[in-house]
Amino acid sequence: MTSVTLEHVTKKFVPAHANEAPVTAVRDLNMKITSGDVLAILGPSGCGKSTLLRMIAGTMPPDSGRVLYDDQNLADIPLRERGIGMVFQEGALIPHWEAETNIGFFFSLRKREAEVPQRLKQISKITGIGLDELLNRRPRQLSGGERQRVGIARALARDLNVLLLDEPFASLDAKYRAEARVELKRLLNAFPVTSVYVTHDQVEAIALAHRIAVMRDGQMEQIGTYTNLYNQPQNLFVATFIGTPMINLFKGRVENGRWQGENFGDLPVRRDLAEHTPLIAGIRAEHIQTLGGEEGTEAVVDTVVPYLSERHQLVTLTRGREQWTLIVPLNEPIHAGSMLRCGFKPEEVLFFDAKTGVRVG
Ligand SMILES: Nc1ncnc2c1ncn2[C@@H]1O[C@H](COP(=O)(O)OP(=O)(O)OP(=O)(O)O)[C@@H](O)[C@H]1O
Ligand SMILES: [Mg+2]
Repeated sequence: MTSVTLEHVTKKFVPAHANEAPVTAVRDLNMKITSGDVLAILGPSGCGKSTLLRMIAGTMPPDSGRVLYDDQNLADIPLRERGIGMVFQEGALIPHWEAETNIGFFFSLRKREAEVPQRLKQISKITGIGLDELLNRRPRQLSGGERQRVGIARALARDLNVLLLDEPFASLDAKYRAEARVELKRLLNAFPVTSVYVTHDQVEAIALAHRIAVMRDGQMEQIGTYTNLYNQPQNLFVATFIGTPMINLFKGRVENGRWQGENFGDLPVRRDLAEHTPLIAGIRAEHIQTLGGEEGTEAVVDTVVPYLSERHQLVTLTRGREQWTLIVPLNEPIHAGSMLRCGFKPEEVLFFDAKTGVRVG
C-alpha cells in the first residue's frame, strides 16, 4: 500500500472570457494520507473536492506543488505503474464493452487475465451480488447502481495502490445507497487499499472512513475522526458543517471576564480574551436539556418534528430574537405554542471569535 502526500498543491482555472477572474479551485493545500487510510473528503459544492481528487489521480497536474506516492513524485511514475483505481459519480466505464471486459481491462494490460475470474468470484461473494449476471451486459444495459458496482469491482479487480471515489453512490436512492455502502465497506476490509472518498453525506463518511477531511474554498479546514471534528472543531465552519441538526449558535460578547448573550448569559470564558470581544457560543442540540420547576430559560415551542427511527423529536424553541433546537425523547409530550424550560452545562459550550470564526474555548 501507498501513502499519498500533497505539498503546497494549487490549481487555478482560467475562464473562457477574459473579463472573468480565474477560479482557484485548490489553494496551497498540504495533506498526508497514510498508507491504508480511508479518508473521506467532505465540503460544500464547488469547494474543490473533484479537482483535488483528479490531482491525486494524476489526471490533472497541479499548477504548482507536488503530489507524492510514498516518496516518489507522481509525475515521475509511469502511468501503468501508478496503480490507481477511480470511480466517478457516473461510473467511468468504457461504453461499448461488456462489463467483464471493463473489469478485466487493466489485468489484460498487464497480461494477467488469468487472475480476473478468481478475483471477480471473490468480489461477487463479498458483495453478495450476482456480478455474474451483470458481467455480460454493456454499461447502457445496466442501472445506475449496477454500473457503480461494476465500476468498483473493476477498480478492485487489480492490485491497487490507491482507490479514489468521487461520490460513487450520489445518484442512488437511500435504500440502495445504504446497501452499496455496506458492500464497499466489506470490499475495503477484504482488499485494504489507501482510499480517498469524496461525499456530501456525513453518514457515509462516518460509515466508511477512518478520518474525515473538511474542505472549504480550495483549502483543508480540519482533518480528524468524526468525533474529533464534532467535539473539537477548530472553527465555526467545521462546527456548523459537521453534525445534524446544525449546532445552535448564540451571539454575545465578553463582559467582566464572562460571556454574555441575550438569553443564555453569564458563562465562563478563557481569561485572556479582551473585554467586549464579540464571541459566538455554540451548543449542540443534544447538549440542551429540558428542565422542570424554575430552572433554566423559558422559551416558546416553535415546532416539533418527530424522528421515529431515532426515537426522538427535534424541538425548536424561540425567545426574543433567538431560536434554537434540542433533542427530546419521543415519549415527552411537547406541543407547538407551549412554554418549555431548558438549560445546558457550561462545559458543553464551544466559543468562537465572531470576527475570525476561530474557536477560542
Ligand atoms: N474545467 C474547469 N474549468 C473552469 N472551472 C472549473 C473547472 N473545473 C472546476 N472548476 C471550478 O473549480 C471549483 C471547484 O470545482 P470542483 O469540481 O473541484 O468542486 P467540487 O467540490 O467537486 O464540487 P461538487 O461538490 O459540486 O462536485 C468550482 O468553482 C468550479 O466551478
Ligand atoms: Mg465534485
